[in-house]
Amino acid sequence: PAPLRLGIVGLGTVGIGVVKIVQNHAGLLAARAGRPLQITAVCARDRTRNRDADISEYAWVDSPAELALRDDVDVLVELVGGTEGAAREAIELALDHGKDVVTANKALLAVHGQALAERAERQGRTIRFEAAVAGGIPVIKAITESLAGNRISRVMGVMNGTCNYILTRMQSAGLPYEAVFEEARQLGYLEADPTLDVGGIDASHKLAILAALAFGTRVAFDSVEIEGIERISIDDINRAADMGYRIKLLGVAQMTGRGLEQRMSPCLVPADSPLGQLEGGTNMVVVEGDSVGQIVLRGAGAGEGPTASAVMSDLVELARGVRMPVFGQPAERLAVPQPARTAVP
Ligand code: NDP
Ligand code: HSE
Repeated sequence: PAPLRLGIVGLGTVGIGVVKIVQNHAGLLAARAGRPLQITAVCARDRTRNRDADISEYAWVDSPAELALRDDVDVLVELVGGTEGAAREAIELALDHGKDVVTANKALLAVHGQALAERAERQGRTIRFEAAVAGGIPVIKAITESLAGNRISRVMGVMNGTCNYILTRMQSAGLPYEAVFEEARQLGYLEADPTLDVGGIDASHKLAILAALAFGTRVAFDSVEIEGIERISIDDINRAADMGYRIKLLGVAQMTGRGLEQRMSPCLVPADSPLGQLEGGTNMVVVEGDSVGQIVLRGAGAGEGPTASAVMSDLVELARGVRMPVFGQPAERLAVPQPARTAVP
């Protein structure tokens, strides 16, 4: 069978992770997908930069837009990031020219997801984004496929590896913020703009995407109430520990009688609870459905291998010919969410 031909834009932490899996697991992937996955072209900013994988056999393309238009690319794999500029332009061009898209770009989806979904569906194409939420945890497929028989009442959890890493390492290793921050950078956890991580914005992008999938609404990032971890000090962390608690950046999305409630904020959780025991870059997502009850998903939320693993699940799905609507149901039918500010007395 004909290979699925991939054009990868972005050869950083995640992009190189994808290259490595395609190279190292070629036989496994072909068996699972029913046909080979073949990288034909790659693109990044700096052609001279040393990469942690051999990319010499792929066509090097200088601009993401050019890559999106190539005849030898069936799927654009966007691993650049950012809500505007190169990433968005390349995705739009790819969809308009009959290509599917796989992306890890939660910021873009949280802001422009609805418009991109409509655009993809108009063209009979799709965007897959398993890697955009909670790294290696297959939470998108859990909500849209495995839990399709449920009315979901609540989605909550820890969805930013950087924040969890900072909060746990400062306490367990007794390291200052700057040292822990640098470790998170070395592990490939940080966003290009790390204020998105510590400000709770990145986790809120993810929460808004999950809420849209879970409740069948348009993505409502603007109505997430957000507080990050910037004001949490080592004293706060230690005092919480003395009382038997941990501080976690916790997101909650639930549909209430007043509308969709979405909150992201630092919370105290018991140290011996599953949430309290989440260490390092681990994420945990809890989904509550009327048939299944409570599901807890836990795993690496960031970094090269886990994120690339999630990207591969989308690529195998596309190779098999699965082309679901972007948000699990036709974009036009998604409800406009009524934002419920937390006015609970
Ligand atoms: P990196 O900063 O490591 O890599 C970004 C890549 O994009 C680099 O290769 C860079 O090129 C390239 N790039 C940047 N601007 C352009 C441009 N204008 N044209 C072409 N290439 C460009 O980022 P990550 O791999 O960490 O993240 C990529 C995406 O994945 C983001 O959307 C991020 O939010 C998302 N993500 C990341 C996770 C992680 O754990 N790191 C987890 C989940 C999602 P060059 O190398 O030449 O500088
Ligand atoms: N910066 C993100 C995090 C990457 O730390 O969770 C994974 O989405």
